Amino acid sequence: MKVYITDCDHDSVDIEKKVFADAGMEVTLCNAKSEDEVIDQCGDGEIFIVQYAKITKKVMDAIPSLKYVVRYGVGVDTIDLLEATKHGIQVGNVPDYGMNEVADHAIALLLSLKRKIIMMNDNTKNNKWDYQKSIPIHRFSKQTVGVVGLGRIGRNFASKAHALGFNIMGYDPYFKKSEEFNYIDSVSLEKLIENSDAISLHIPSDGNIGLFSYETFKKMKDSAVIINVARGGIINENDLDKALINGEIAGAGIDCMENEPVPSDNKLFSRDNLIVTPHMAWYSEEAASELKRKVAEEAVRFSNGEKIHYPINKLENTPV
Ligand SMILES: NC(=O)c1ccc[n+]([C@@H]2O[C@H](COP(=O)([O-])OP(=O)(O)OC[C@H]3O[C@@H](n4cnc5c(N)ncnc54)[C@H](O)[C@@H]3O)[C@@H](O)[C@H]2O)c1
Repeated sequence: MKVYITDCDHDSVDIEKKVFADAGMEVTLCNAKSEDEVIDQCGDGEIFIVQYAKITKKVMDAIPSLKYVVRYGVGVDTIDLLEATKHGIQVGNVPDYGMNEVADHAIALLLSLKRKIIMMNDNTKNNKWDYQKSIPIHRFSKQTVGVVGLGRIGRNFASKAHALGFNIMGYDPYFKKSEEFNYIDSVSLEKLIENSDAISLHIPSDGNIGLFSYETFKKMKDSAVIINVARGGIINENDLDKALINGEIAGAGIDCMENEPVPSDNKLFSRDNLIVTPHMAWYSEEAASELKRKVAEEAVRFSNGEKIHYPINKLENTPV
């Protein structure tokens, strides 16, 4: 099958090329992000590996040979799923390449906020050698971390936070208690919001836009912090700003925001009690390599008529 990488901002695609070469296949790297660029550069493609390229109805109408679109990473919001299904195009992703990294990043934000590392670093370098500026800090075992979303990453995060001594509350309508996760106190969202000393979000944006609003922040403890390594939009950013200013919550650690990339003059960036990173929770050298290998392996599987591991839409007559 004719395979294109529509677009990719990685340094090289050697890993992908090797997977295809080992399978006796070729892959062509393009630089196509807009609909017209995809149509111009990849017009005879059967399989697309995409990073940011928009795969819309217009693209699908123009490229009838297209059979499979697989995305580098988890989110497939650049692909029109409904149209893909109508056009008989299988869509897939790679959801499990950086679970440890995302959970670790949330842990890093949690520890930075709870031990006040960033704030005290700034204060010590720019003001005074004075631990009293950090008061109060509490022992982890006296605090509860609320995990919203107990899927792949939420459970990974919960196990690490638990190992650090935090008490764990969790909310996920689909969570089933098991021996492995018997330390998670499975509660309602309301109870988690009111009783957590830190809340970490591990849910998709789909169906959850604005879930954390000013009303939600008001219900949280004033001393609690919020962590979002999931997706922008789940937290209403104007409301977060207001909540940080008014002391409704004590701090926030944010890796994902509404309109990325976010300019550095964003008002939230001037809040001392907010830590921000540029949607990098997924990243480590190892996770990046794993993503590239897995995306190419999925394309090879599809090309061989084998069952793909990560289908997004359900089509008739496909081996998923
Ligand atoms: N920052 C990054 O670099 C990065 C990287 C990878 C994934 N992510 C994000 O992390 C999030 C979690 O990924 P995952 O692989 O664990 O997904 P997953 O599908 O394994 O788990 C998501 C869980 O959220 C639950 N859920 C959905 N809505 C909920 C709600 N309102 N309340 C409680 N639970 C709810 C679902 O039942 C599911 O169990 C996703 O948003 C993903 O996009 C971020």
